[in-house]
Amino acid sequence: CGIVAYIGPREAYPIILKGLKRLEYRGYDSSGVALLNKDLRVYKKKGKVSELEDSLVGKDLHAHAGMGHTRWATHGEPNDRNAHPHHSASGRLAMIHNGIIENYTQLKQELMRKGYHFNSDTDTEVLLNFIEDIQKNNNCGLEEAVRIALRRVVGAYVIVLLDKDMPDTVIAARKGSPLVIGIGKGEHFLASDASPIIEYTKEVVYVNDYELAILKADELILKNLGNEKITPFVQKLDLEMAAIEKGGYDHFMLKEIFEQPDTIFDCLRGRLDATKGTIRMAGIQQNIQQLTQAKRIIMIACGTSWHAGLIAEYIFEELCRIPVEVEYASEFRYRNPVIHPGDVIIAISQSGETADTIVAIEKAKESGAFILGVVNVVGSSIARISHAGAYTHAGPEIGVASTKAFTAQLAVLTMIALKIAHEKGTIDTTRYMQLLGELHSVPEKVKEVLKLSESIRGLAQKYKDAKDALYLGRGYNFAVALEGALKLKEISYIHAEGYPAAEMKHGPIALVDEQLPVVFVATKDSYHEKIVSNIQEIKARKGRVIAVISHGDSIIENMAEDCMRIPETDEIIAPMLSVIPLQLLAYYIGAVKGYDVDKPRNLAKSVTVE
Ligand code: G6P
Repeated sequence: CGIVAYIGPREAYPIILKGLKRLEYRGYDSSGVALLNKDLRVYKKKGKVSELEDSLVGKDLHAHAGMGHTRWATHGEPNDRNAHPHHSASGRLAMIHNGIIENYTQLKQELMRKGYHFNSDTDTEVLLNFIEDIQKNNNCGLEEAVRIALRRVVGAYVIVLLDKDMPDTVIAARKGSPLVIGIGKGEHFLASDASPIIEYTKEVVYVNDYELAILKADELILKNLGNEKITPFVQKLDLEMAAIEKGGYDHFMLKEIFEQPDTIFDCLRGRLDATKGTIRMAGIQQNIQQLTQAKRIIMIACGTSWHAGLIAEYIFEELCRIPVEVEYASEFRYRNPVIHPGDVIIAISQSGETADTIVAIEKAKESGAFILGVVNVVGSSIARISHAGAYTHAGPEIGVASTKAFTAQLAVLTMIALKIAHEKGTIDTTRYMQLLGELHSVPEKVKEVLKLSESIRGLAQKYKDAKDALYLGRGYNFAVALEGALKLKEISYIHAEGYPAAEMKHGPIALVDEQLPVVFVATKDSYHEKIVSNIQEIKARKGRVIAVISHGDSIIENMAEDCMRIPETDEIIAPMLSVIPLQLLAYYIGAVKGYDVDKPRNLAKSVTVE
C-alpha cells in the first residue's frame, strides 16, 4: 500500500493526489483521502487513483492538512467500504494503515463486547477504534493513546492519524512498513517512499520501527513508544525527478527495460575495472574473510529477485566452490531451517521492504548467520538490517513487474562471486580477466539486444492469443526461463510455465500440441547440444518453437519458427542479455492486449504484508 500526507501552508489535496499517483505502483485496489480543516472529510473509492479523482470533482477539497492512501487489499475485499482512510466510531479520528494487525480478531472482540460496531472488514478500523477507546478510558491525548495501543498490537504497520480537534497535527507511527518524512520550509510531507516528496524537498528523515512522528507545519517531533524524544536524522535525497517520470515512454515498464544499458553501467561504474582486474565493493572487501570462509551460502528472496538468486547459485558454485541454497523467503521463515553461525545469507530484494524477506533474514541473523543485502532501494529496511551489502543502483523501479532491478541484481551478484573467487583462488587469472571483460561489455551488448524491440512487438502480435506458453532453459538460462514465464503471466495474464528444458520430459511435454508456443532460452553455452535435442523433442510433437539464441546459431535458426538473436557472451554473463527479449515479449503482449502493464491486476510492487 502507499501512504502520503501533508501539513503546511499549501492546499493539501493536490499534493496528496499527485503523491498517490506516484505511489500507485504499491497497490491500486482502492484509494482515499482525508482532509482536515475545521472538519474532517473522508473520501474513498474502489479502483485506481484516477477513479477517486473523478469522483471528487465539485467536492469541497480545501484543507492544509490531509492524508491519502492507495491500497493493496489484505483484510476485506477491495470495495469503497474497505478503502482507507477509516473513521473512528465517534467520527473524530481518521486513520490510514499499511500492513497487517495480526491480533485484530482479539481486539475486535474486546471492542464488540463494549458495544462497538464496524463499518468495514478491515483490521485498520479495529485498531483505530481501539485507539479511540483507550483515549476515552484513560482520558489522555491522542499521542498517548497511540503509544498505549501500539504496545498491544502484534503485526506490521505504518499508521497515520488525523484528529478533528487537532487541525494543526498529523500523527504517524511505524513498525515494519516504510515511512519517510520530507522537511520543507514551514511544511512537512510524509510518504511510503520518497517519490511523492522529492518534488518539494530533498531533506528527509526515515522513521524507524517503534517510532512515533508528530508533525506540525513547522515542527517535527520523533518519539519512541516509551515517550522519549529522538533526534531526527536528516538525510539528503539522492534522487532526481526524471527518475520517477515516464519520459516519453508509454509505460514505466518499457522505460525501465530501455534503461538497462545505463542501469547496468551505473551498477558496474566505480566498481569494476576490467583493465586493472579489480572489483571495488567496500561492503564485500570489509567482510572478505567471512565470505571466503563461508561453508555455505543461502540466497533468500521472493519473486523475480528469487530468480536472480537461482542464477547466482550456479555462478557462485562454479566460481567460488561454495555450496549454495536458494530459498523462498516465505518458506524459509516458517520452517525450522538449519542455520550455523558462519553461514552467509544473501538477501536479494529490489524494494528492500518485502515483509517475508525481512522476517527470514531476521530469523537467520538471530541464529548467527552473516547477512549480506543485495538491495536496490537505498536506506530500505533490508539494507539496514543486513550486516553488509552492495546496492544495485538501478534507480527507482516503478513498473510492478521487475526488469532493470533484475539485471542489476545479476550484475552485482556476479561481481560479488568474482571477487570472492579471486580472493579464494578458485578462479584462474585468465578466466577472471575474461569474465571481467565480458561483464564490462554488457551495457553495450544490452543496447544491441534492445534493437530487437520492434521485431519482438511483431512477435507479440502473432502470439498474443495463446492460452498457455512454456518457457524452457538449461544451466544459467534455466532461471531465465522461469523469469520469462513469470513476466508473461504477470503482464499479459497468459498462463505460462518455466521449466528446466530436460525436466520437461517429465510432465509439461504432455501439454505440447500445435497451438502451444514453447520459448527456448538457448544461447551458445556448454548446454547447447543438449538443448538442441530438447527443441527436437518439442518439434516432434508439433509445438511452436520460439528461441532466444546467440548471433550466428544456424542450427537453432533452422529449427525454430521465430528467433530472437542476441550478442554472444560467456555463459555466466548470458542471463543479463537473454532475459531482455523475454521482458520485451511479455511487455508487448500485455500492451497489445490493452492491459495496464505498469499495474497488473492483483499485484503490488512492494509486498509489505506476509
Ligand atoms: C513483488 C513484485 C515483484 C518482485 C517481488 C519481490 O511480487 O511484484 O516484481 O520481484 O515482489 O520484491 P523485492 O522488492 O523483494 O525484490
